[in-house]
Amino acid sequence: MELVIGIDLATSGAKCVVMDKDAQVLAVAFTPYPLDTSEQGKAEQNPAEWWAATRRSIKEALQQANADPRAVQAIGLTGQMHGLVALDAAGEVIRPAIIWLDSRSIPQCEWLLENIGEEAIAKHTLNVPLTGFTGPKLLWLRDNEPESYARIAQIMLPKDYIRLRLTGVPGTDVSDASGTMLFDVARRTWSEELVRTLDIPLRWLPPAYESGEIVGNLLPEVATELGLRAGIPVIAGAGDQAAAGVACGALTEGVAAANIGSGGIVFIAMDSPKVDPSFGVHTFCHAVEGKWHLLGVVQTAGLALKWFTKTFCREEAAAAEICDKNVYDVLLQKASHVPPGCEGLVFLPYLMGERSPHRDPNARGVFFGAQLHHGKEYFTRAVLEGVAFAMRDCVETARQMGVKLDTYYTGAGGGYQGRLWRQIQADIFGANLVTLNVQESSASGAAMLAGHACGLYESLEAAYRAGVQPLWYTEYDESNHARYQSLYTVYRRLYTNLRSLFKELA
Ligand code: XUL
Repeated sequence: MELVIGIDLATSGAKCVVMDKDAQVLAVAFTPYPLDTSEQGKAEQNPAEWWAATRRSIKEALQQANADPRAVQAIGLTGQMHGLVALDAAGEVIRPAIIWLDSRSIPQCEWLLENIGEEAIAKHTLNVPLTGFTGPKLLWLRDNEPESYARIAQIMLPKDYIRLRLTGVPGTDVSDASGTMLFDVARRTWSEELVRTLDIPLRWLPPAYESGEIVGNLLPEVATELGLRAGIPVIAGAGDQAAAGVACGALTEGVAAANIGSGGIVFIAMDSPKVDPSFGVHTFCHAVEGKWHLLGVVQTAGLALKWFTKTFCREEAAAAEICDKNVYDVLLQKASHVPPGCEGLVFLPYLMGERSPHRDPNARGVFFGAQLHHGKEYFTRAVLEGVAFAMRDCVETARQMGVKLDTYYTGAGGGYQGRLWRQIQADIFGANLVTLNVQESSASGAAMLAGHACGLYESLEAAYRAGVQPLWYTEYDESNHARYQSLYTVYRRLYTNLRSLFKELA
């Protein structure tokens, strides 16, 4: 039996899926690793821990699948985007990786805007500086740790460090490189001009490949440890959202893949690199050759519900535990009896600032419109609705840009497990949702890319059609949508009116 594996170097841990020739997922393994957030704005991880966790997940997934490791034909990589791994001339990691969540590069972003300008940067990269992106992190390192900066011989993105350890070959892919702010997204190559302007040596950047290209082959010593065949191809792979887009069928313009994990994602495939004039949503290369995507990122989605539950629902959590129930199921069941719109209670989910579409690190969470009759179940529902409104903002940006949008897919994990959040989102979007039987969308997308590269699947569409089926259809309700439309106006104006106050507060 021929197999492929997909590795997702996620923020919480390393995931590995084993996929067969019919694009069925046979096993999923997950190995967590820590995240160092010990200082304001800091978010760092240790690449040695990534590598150990990756090897462990590969072994576990193969064991779980009861598969002969020698049947694996190719490896696909995906992972958290935007991070900075810095290596010295000996290929040693210089300092811990600074990951996408790290926000210490605010001064560097301001410097970029003042000295180079938003327009000029966008002209080269189609995107603008954000603290999350790799370029500003590199400038932060230059300004704050000159000794480390002076030792750099090569930089790479998180999943590409795993590639280096698997194959000994440096490389990245066009979708992940898009999130560095150093990449010419329209031309799918490094932006030599901008990189030179920033005085960053071009030789530091790994070669950028299309996602399905083979970049290297598995090293014999790694193969021996994992039981895999030495020399099997390791493909370029993709950033986590582009890989998820592949597994969720967002392969051509008109198809969106939404996701509610810690954050909320609206991923929309495009035939050409269209750009939001206000840069609220990103324009990145797709993992599909010759295609691009729009990416709207809501910073706290599932995390907003988790925060609400942890902060305000301790009794419910304790009671649920005694009855062996899931506290989210209990809370959402109660919230399902609250009328859509929560009788005027509105929540802004900006608990960690907001990326899309506001690009505002100062934005804050807000409950607005509370009255005496609003009980906890109203607040719960308001959180679900607030996240869906934030994702609607991303959809709205795409609609205003004239991007075709007729199909909305979602994976089956995270926030889409429960019927209530799916219905709220469909009603707020004014669109029907199709939830697919995809659990680990990024790792599955990486496996599909690998399977296509080694000839196991005729095309990505063929892999998607073979492996993925609709699980639930959620039709939107016209009258709920109408009710949400007027509330959405309030939601939008709330942010506009509070913007300067958020800044003052910060
Ligand atoms: C995408 C993004 C996240 C990270 C971590 O722009 O910031 O998807 O890649 O998952």
